[in-house]
Parts: sequence; C-alpha cells; structure tokens
Amino acid sequence: MPHLLHLDSSIDPARSRSRAVTTAFATAWRGRGDDFTVAYRDLHADPVPHLTDAASHWAPRLRRAGEAPPAAEAALQQRLLDELLAADVLVVGAPMYNYSLPSTLKAWVDHIHVPGSTAPFDTPDQPMAGKPAVLVTTRGAAYDPGTPTAGWDHTVPPLQLILGDSLGMRVAVIEVNLTLSDFVPALADQAERAAAELATAEATARDLALSLP
Ligand SMILES: Cc1cc2nc3c(=O)[nH]c(=O)nc-3n(C[C@H](O)[C@H](O)[C@H](O)COP(=O)(O)O)c2cc1C
Repeated sequence: MPHLLHLDSSIDPARSRSRAVTTAFATAWRGRGDDFTVAYRDLHADPVPHLTDAASHWAPRLRRAGEAPPAAEAALQQRLLDELLAADVLVVGAPMYNYSLPSTLKAWVDHIHVPGSTAPFDTPDQPMAGKPAVLVTTRGAAYDPGTPTAGWDHTVPPLQLILGDSLGMRVAVIEVNLTLSDFVPALADQAERAAAELATAEATARDLALSLP
C-alpha cells in the first residue's frame, strides 16, 4: 500500500501557504484510491519536544557504555522513526522563520536523523534511500539568485542535506515566495508574482502526488 507521511509546521493555520500546498498534495494522493494512505503530523499543534540526551542522536549500538536516554524520549523517537520508515513518500511544510526552519520542524529532524540507523556511520544504513521527499517552502520575501538576499535561505539547504545527502531521499523543492506581499507595503507591488507562485506550487504538488513514488 503506498503510504504518505505528511508534516506541517506553520504557526499560522488560518493563512498558511505551506499548509495549503501540502494539503493539495495529500488530497491528490488520497484521490488515487483507498490504498493511498496518509499519516499526518502537525508539528505546530502537537510539537515534538527537544532532545534532552545527546545519546539519542546515535543508534543504540553506537552509544557510549552505560548511556541510555530517558524512556519517554526513546519511545517517542522510536514512534517518529517508525512513522518515517513506514512512508513511501514524505511531504514537509517548511516555512522560512528567521531565515531558517521552524524550531518545531528542527526538533523532528533531531529525532529522525540518527547515524547508524537512518543515516550512514560505520555501516551504510540508509533505509529511506531513494524514497521521494517533497519540501514545500514558503517565505514572506524573495531570495532570488543575483539579488542582495541570495544565499540568505537557511531553511531548504539543511533539509536537503539531512533528507537528501544523509538519508539518501530524492528531494524535490516547491517554493512560494513573497507571501507577505498582501501585508508588507514595500512588497505590495509583487502580489501578482506571489499569487502566481502559489497557484503553480499547488499545481506542482498535485502533479507530484499523482506521479510519486
Ligand atoms: C516567526 C516568523 C519569522 C519569519 N521570518 C521570515 C524571514 O526570515 N524571511 C522571510 O522572508 N519571511 C519570514 N517570515 C514570513 C513567513 O516566511 C511567511 O509568512 C510564510 O508564508 C510562512 O509560511 P506559511 O504561509 O505556511 O505560514 C516569518 C514569519 C514568522 C511567523
């Protein structure tokens, strides 16, 4: 059964563009038939706590002698890992917050990026290798190549590094820029571009959901 893991992390349920695009993806996925199942995790409404024990970063066999993270932390980490490993496709809503990813999404990453388990360390462990991950990133402004703000995006690169390079997933990125053009006067003249990018993003999400994995 093709199974999707759908993550959202926007703190703005009413106006969120990333939620609109990930929902377009999940709706198209479900529309393929009853066997196209979805697990949903809202990292804003139901936040994953920060790790409290450095040993949680490592697969159990790689930990120092005597190290054992708290039982509740280990149990949650295992649940998140099981949820990820069960997925054939991952879709992630990743808004830009302060040029970076939401701390709620980072806390999820900290739980699932585990050398020796989901990522290679001394053995080539990469159980998610080759599976698609679709990142939906939304930003209030724009970070176009050749502009003074090019290179300020620290939302997508770490996710590409973790999900793509480290976990070996096939990462696709869907971008929506200038989402604050309806609110910030200095961006008001870019509202048309913002609307066009949102429409394109929703269409791209639907197309991917109909063709993946
Ligand atoms: C806490 C916070 C920090 C933000 N930081 C940035 C930023 O650094 N750069 C930017 O372009 N937009 C920033 N924004 C605007 C959001 O990226 C934008 O509203 C985006 O559409 C949020 O995703 P969403 O539509 O899915 O909620 C920030 C918004 C919030 C709430």
